[in-house]
Amino acid sequence: MSAPTPGVPAPDHRRLLVTSALPYANGSIHLGHLVEYIQTDVWVRFQRMRGHEVHYVGADDTHGTPVMLRAESEGITPEALVDRVWLEHRRDFDDFRVGFDHYHSTHSPDNRALCEDIYRRLDAAGLIDRRPVEQFYDPVRGIFLPDRYIRGRCPRCAAPDQYGDSCESCGATYAPTDLVEPYSTLTGATPERRSSEHHFFRLSDPRCEAFLREFTQSEGRLQAEAANKMREWLGEAGEPKLADWDISRDAPYFGFEIPGSEGRKFFYVWLDAPVGYFASFLAHAAHRAAAGQPIETDAFLRPGGDTELVHFIGKDILYFHALFWPAMLRYSGYRTPTRIHAHGFLTVNGEKMSKSRGTFITARSYLDQGLDPHWLRYYYAAKLNATLEDIDLNLDDFCARVNSDLVGKYVNIASRCAGFLGKRFEGRLAALPGDGPEAALLAVMREAGESIARHYDAREFGRAMREVMQLADLANQYVDREKPWELARAQGTDERLQVVCTAAVEGFRLLTLYLKPVLPGLAAEVESFLGIAPLEWAHLSQPLPAGHPIRPYRHLMQRIDPRQIEALVNANKDTLKSAPATPAGGASAPAAAANPAPAGAVQPAAPTVIGIEDFARIDLRIARIAEAHAVEGADRLVRLVLDLGAEQRTVFAGIKSAYAPESLVGRLTVMVANLAPRKMKFGMSEGMVLAASGEGPGIFLLSPDAGAQPGMKVK
Ligand code: 2FM
Ligand code: ZN
Repeated sequence: MSAPTPGVPAPDHRRLLVTSALPYANGSIHLGHLVEYIQTDVWVRFQRMRGHEVHYVGADDTHGTPVMLRAESEGITPEALVDRVWLEHRRDFDDFRVGFDHYHSTHSPDNRALCEDIYRRLDAAGLIDRRPVEQFYDPVRGIFLPDRYIRGRCPRCAAPDQYGDSCESCGATYAPTDLVEPYSTLTGATPERRSSEHHFFRLSDPRCEAFLREFTQSEGRLQAEAANKMREWLGEAGEPKLADWDISRDAPYFGFEIPGSEGRKFFYVWLDAPVGYFASFLAHAAHRAAAGQPIETDAFLRPGGDTELVHFIGKDILYFHALFWPAMLRYSGYRTPTRIHAHGFLTVNGEKMSKSRGTFITARSYLDQGLDPHWLRYYYAAKLNATLEDIDLNLDDFCARVNSDLVGKYVNIASRCAGFLGKRFEGRLAALPGDGPEAALLAVMREAGESIARHYDAREFGRAMREVMQLADLANQYVDREKPWELARAQGTDERLQVVCTAAVEGFRLLTLYLKPVLPGLAAEVESFLGIAPLEWAHLSQPLPAGHPIRPYRHLMQRIDPRQIEALVNANKDTLKSAPATPAGGASAPAAAANPAPAGAVQPAAPTVIGIEDFARIDLRIARIAEAHAVEGADRLVRLVLDLGAEQRTVFAGIKSAYAPESLVGRLTVMVANLAPRKMKFGMSEGMVLAASGEGPGIFLLSPDAGAQPGMKVK
């Protein structure tokens, strides 16, 4: 059999290996992460209900400098840290009902063996290169600095305190070695440029390029938007843009040593992380084999099988999953992914999750407030679709939607009718007539099954939820019309009462079946209340038989009290102030600093030609420096009060190394007066002064010729 072709209708029996991105082992699972785990879990549960064979695996992504430094700051070994976080993550996933078949760790001997094997095969295929790389080194801490630990002034706009890869002020992207006056955020030391030998995966090799072009552009493999992005990243055929990928890091590093490097070189975390998908799957297969249910692993991991490998990821890590990972697999003898499903980021109340607003909410704090995980699962499902668009968790809408859909519509059907069956008919169901209003209602509800299934399969969960709620509306309208409470009071209407309540319960069973991928725990309670086997999609056409007994109804779901949400936000305002400040919260971080181009694979940004109208948008003004003060705790910054004639502005400038503050008072310079104010650690910066700098040391503040006056426009 040959592998299913993306874009072609799925076979009747599918064999799926499904993954979600691996969260980093240096932080807690938060609501941003949960978008992806819930999305994947819903899809997996749906496929299982359809009767397919599904293996869903995950793992903690344990390696890298942040984990190493975090462990150090806690005074424990990295191993102890990753073990502890693994337990926390596991618990969070269990409690949110994310049902991994196996949850692994990338820091495991089996993952190491797989990585070494893949590396050796790539090397044997002539795809590993070794060459020196110049990087920043922190002489105090004794490590090479990853980009995120270097800050300095933007080489383009001179804004101070910018990250090593991009400027928040003007948006420029650059290499960390381009930063002006760089400093290590770990020690404050000025980093040294040092050279060391690195190992590269030769993605620029024509074989890789040709493969990736075909891989990323095949129909159905990636979402159209993602495929376009890849086309951009790959460049035109004949003028490839893909640079080789630096897969090594120097010691000290928490990771796997590169074979033969005598403890000096380690695999970069992104090399071993996706391999963790396979290590996790193999560990799962080993457990299954031990339980007498072996899995044919080669069919899932080697080319030519009829299985599907499906990755769910955030759009920020497409680069790794659609380029690096498939190329690694292709040239080391493994199968490549069948499909890569990327989703957008989470915003809360329309904004990036924020610790100060209390919207950076951890999974644990949500549970600790007594909030039901099914509420979030439903809300996310109702918002999710198959695009890369961001999704918003609006907290008011969350309460309103859950209360109205789940409690007001879905659960309501059972609570309105089940009691009568228990009290009046010993919980026994009636035989339903072959025609009439109940037959019509249930036919419509059953017929919707195929369309709902198509939406689930296509990850259009929002559409699926809308259809299900429309059916719930129909069922409620039926109950409104038939008025079982009146039938219960009237004489001689018992038979009718039992039929109406039976029809409502059957409708409720169908809705439960449709919602089961999203609400697995609730569905299990309903199964027990109805006294039925776990619902599968095939049970759609198998109504409960006449005389079937159901158990007494107990209320299935509470409404959300908006005060619970208030408490949640407050709890996160308090507790998260002390949370680690590392920017990468984990897999597919929320509305995160988009950092789509990993180092080692981007072309440097070329200066762009702009039109005069672009230049005219910058309001350059002559300013007199009215005050200049050193800034305590910032050895590079000077706080300037600038006089623009009609107004004064405070600006922080990274010019301390070149000017004693007092020498600046009274002189004229040029400022950007319409730069968006920037909140800095030391206060608000309301503009920027212009200065020149070059390769060598020195910063040179601009001055106008004599005669210029504060407030004059520079054009
Ligand atoms: O972006 C992240 O959070 C990574 N930890 C995801 C890794 S996914 C896979 F490749 F391991
Ligand atoms: Zn800049």
